[in-house]
Amino acid sequence: MDTTSSTPPNRGTWSSKIGFVMAAAGSAVGLGNIWKFPYTAGENGGGAFVSIYLLFVIVIGFSVMLTEFAVGRKTGLSAVGAFKTTDRRWTFVGILGVLSGLLIMGFYPVVGGWAIAYIYKVSTGLLSQPDAIGDSFSGFIANPLQPLFWMGLYLFFNILVVMRGVSGGIEKAGKVLMPLLFIILIIVSIKGLMLPGAMAGLEFLFKPDFSKIDSSVVLAALGQAFFSLSLGMGCMLTYGSYLRKQENLVQTTAMVTAMDTSVALLAGIAMFPAMFAFGMEPSAGPGLVFVVVPQLFAEMGEIGLVLAILFFIGLSVAALTSSVSLLEVVVAYLIDEKGFSRITAVLTASGVMALLCILASLSIGGFGPTLFHTGAFDIFDLLTDKIFLAIGGMLVCLFAGWRLDRSELKKEITNDGKVSFPLFNVWYMLIKYIIPVAIAIVAIAGVKAGFDSNKGEIMILGLIIIGLCGIFSKKL
Ligand code: PFF
Repeated sequence: MDTTSSTPPNRGTWSSKIGFVMAAAGSAVGLGNIWKFPYTAGENGGGAFVSIYLLFVIVIGFSVMLTEFAVGRKTGLSAVGAFKTTDRRWTFVGILGVLSGLLIMGFYPVVGGWAIAYIYKVSTGLLSQPDAIGDSFSGFIANPLQPLFWMGLYLFFNILVVMRGVSGGIEKAGKVLMPLLFIILIIVSIKGLMLPGAMAGLEFLFKPDFSKIDSSVVLAALGQAFFSLSLGMGCMLTYGSYLRKQENLVQTTAMVTAMDTSVALLAGIAMFPAMFAFGMEPSAGPGLVFVVVPQLFAEMGEIGLVLAILFFIGLSVAALTSSVSLLEVVVAYLIDEKGFSRITAVLTASGVMALLCILASLSIGGFGPTLFHTGAFDIFDLLTDKIFLAIGGMLVCLFAGWRLDRSELKKEITNDGKVSFPLFNVWYMLIKYIIPVAIAIVAIAGVKAGFDSNKGEIMILGLIIIGLCGIFSKKL
C-alpha cells in the first residue's frame, strides 16, 4: 500500500491498525533513538537530560503527535496541503516542514551509510581486534571518500523504496527486523550490565544531577524529543491523513510514543553501563553506538559476530524506515504542489539531498566549506534539531489551537464522541497556550546559551530562515 504519498483521490487507508502503528513507529524509531539519543544524553550530563527528555516526551511530544494526527486525518492532506487549504497564511508551516525534511536528509543518510558500512566491516573482521574498534571508526568517518560510497548506497535504497511508494518490502522487513533489533538491544543490555563497573553507567543515565541543567541541556532535550518522535515537520501529520475514521487517535499516539521512548531508553541501557565498564567517556560523541556496541559484541565470541551483523542490519533498516518518511515529505510536496511526477520528484529531492550529504560527510573529516566555524553536518543538525522542529511543533499547536475550531477538533479526536478522551481539555490548554509558550521560552534561552558555544549564530540564522519562509511562502 502506498502509505505516504498524498494524492487525494483513491488515497489508501491503513488496512489494519497495527499496520499504521508499525509504520508510524517505523518513522519514529530510527537513528534518533539508537545513535543520537545515547550520545546526546552523554554530552548533556546523563540523568538530568533524560528526565527532562521524558517529561517533554510525555507532555509535549504526546500532545503534538496527537495534534498532527488529528490535523492530518481531518484535512486528509499532507504537510503543505493541510495548512494551505485551511488558510493560506499558514502555508509556511508546511513549507518549513519540507525544508526540515530536506535538511535532515542532508545528514541522516551519512549516518545511515555508516550503519550499512558496519554490516560489511563487522562481517569482514572488525570484531577480531577489539582494541582497534575506536580508531577504526574515527579513521573511517574522517576519510573523505569511503563514507560517501556507503551514503550513496543508503540513499539509493531510499530512492528505490520511495519511487514505488512506501510499500511491500520495507514494511515487511521492518516487521521482522524491528522486533529483532529490540531483542538484540535487550541481549546487549544484559551483557553490558554484567560487566564489572556497569552500575555506574546506569546511575549516570537515570540518576539526575539537577545541577547539570542549563538552558542548552533543556533545548537539547526538547530537540531530541521532536526529532525522535518525527514531530514538527508534518511527517506524522501526513501519516495521520491515511488513518481511518474509526481508529482511536489517542491510543495510537500513546502506542507510538511508548514504543519510540522504550527503544531510546533501551539503547541507553545497552550502551552506558558498557561504556563505564570500558572506562570510556560518556561524552564520546556521535561515535558511541559504532564503538561501544561492536566492543561488546567482540567480547561474546562467535555468537557476538552473528548478533553484531544482525544488529547493524536492524539499525540500517530502522534508519531506512525513518528516512523514507523524511524523503516522502519532500516528494509529496513536489508532486502535490509543483505537479512533478513521482519519479522526477524522487530524483530531484534525492539529488539535492545527495549534494547536502556530500558536504555533511566531508565536513566530518574537516573538508569542505564552513559557516561560523561550523561544518555542514553540524549546521544541518543544529538548524533542524535545535530550531526548526521545535518551532514547527509550536506552529502546529498554534494552528490547531487558534485557527481550527475547538469542537471540530474534539469531534476528530473522539471520533464524533464514540471514543472517550477525558483529558481533552487538558490537551487543548496545552496546545493552545502552554506548549507554545514553553517552546518559545526554551528556544530563546537555548539560542542565548548557544552563543557560549559558538552555535548562537547558526540558531539565529535558523530563526531568520523561518521568517523568510513566512514572507515568501506564497511564492513557493
Ligand atoms: N524519528 C527519526 C529518528 O528518530 O531517527 C528521525 C525523523 C524521521 C525525524 C522523520 C523527523 C521525521 F519527520
